[in-house]
Amino acid sequence: MKIKQKTGFALLLLAFSTTLWAHGNVVPQAVETKGLEPLGEEWLEENPYRGNEHAIEIGASAYNQNCAACHGLEAKSGGIAPDLRLLETGAMGDEWFKERVINGAVRDGRVYMPKMADYLSQEALWAVRSYLESVHIEE
Ligand code: HEC
Repeated sequence: MKIKQKTGFALLLLAFSTTLWAHGNVVPQAVETKGLEPLGEEWLEENPYRGNEHAIEIGASAYNQNCAACHGLEAKSGGIAPDLRLLETGAMGDEWFKERVINGAVRDGRVYMPKMADYLSQEALWAVRSYLESVHIEE
């Protein structure tokens, strides 16, 4: 009986910890992308929603739910992860953004940033990118 309880607890813990990010308790939140042009599975090279007000609005909320725990509320980094307001605008910034959200940041087996594209759609992530460009600042 005792052993059974222990195993149950360990399993529970395991199931629980896989839903936690490396920093803080961030669980990916579904993003409603209704009203945005659907993009399909294949990733585009550039943000198709740049400057799109609706995308910026969706992106702001998607950012605060899925990225802010590490990158800071309103993209003002508290120091754990880079300040995303500084991300380059235009195609160059898009390329780096895409690289990071698809591959995350993993070094020596440690997950610094999860592969966000495993959890969020291309539409949701380009919306986040649109939001970030709308709050861009120069270094
Ligand atoms: C668990 C914490 C965490 C979460 C959640 C997270 N990131 Fe990150 N992110 C990081 C860290 C840490 C780095 C720096 C990685 C490195 O050191 O190589 C990073 C790097 C980046 C970069 C590259 C920035 C640069 O200046 O090089 C981008 C772009 C980025 N993240 C976007 C996002 C977006 C968009 C989301 C939400 C959809 C997100 N991240 C969610 C931790 C996180």
